[in-house]
Amino acid sequence: MSIFNNRNFHETSNLASDIDILTHRYNWILKPIIQEFKNKSVLELGSHNGRFTFACLKMGVSNVLGIEQDTEMIYKAKQSLSDFQNFKFIQGDIEKTLPQIEEKFDIVLCMGVLYYLDCQEVLLQCRKRCKRLMIVDSFVNRELVPSLRFLQNCLCESGFNYTTLDVPNDFLGYGKKRFALHCRPIIPLF
Ligand SMILES: C[S@@+](CC[C@H](N)C(=O)[O-])C[C@H]1O[C@@H](n2cnc3c(N)ncnc32)[C@H](O)[C@@H]1O
Repeated sequence: MSIFNNRNFHETSNLASDIDILTHRYNWILKPIIQEFKNKSVLELGSHNGRFTFACLKMGVSNVLGIEQDTEMIYKAKQSLSDFQNFKFIQGDIEKTLPQIEEKFDIVLCMGVLYYLDCQEVLLQCRKRCKRLMIVDSFVNRELVPSLRFLQNCLCESGFNYTTLDVPNDFLGYGKKRFALHCRPIIPLF
């Protein structure tokens, strides 16, 4: 059974919200390292309608702080997360908001959002706040989208080691070439 079952993520967004795709991404990227989420703090960039906030809370994290520019999506996320208390959203632009956050987090989620942002600058900002693990997933389907090689270079320059995950054979990701990485600070923060 999907971790997203019985939730209205599909109804609250038309943006890659197909439950099968969300489940595939969860199974591919998060589930193999589920034990790393227990009791950890999470910063989530581009939390949208709370789909991966929800997955983190179900995996037993201690708290999630999401940054999202879309007020309506924050409203919908709060409705979908009504069983939980340990989350908070900041409504705002990631590039402006991130430098103002002083807190450090065990895990940073950077899923489906880097292609909207200044990749290098945002990864540097993430590095200053990420204690243990950063998850990146993205896709390549047009020129402006950072390629995997560009992203890997940005990660090195920002002080992350990374593992690029093999794409499962059965995962089309809406026909786009998706890629995902587990990234770890070269020097862990405490
Ligand atoms: C494609 S959705 C990804 C949602 C989810 N993280 C996922 O991977 O399925 C990208 C989200 O990032 C938000 N977003 C994009 N650029 C942003 C910015 N500069 N500041 C804050 N949120 C932003 C969008 O509003 C949208 O909700």
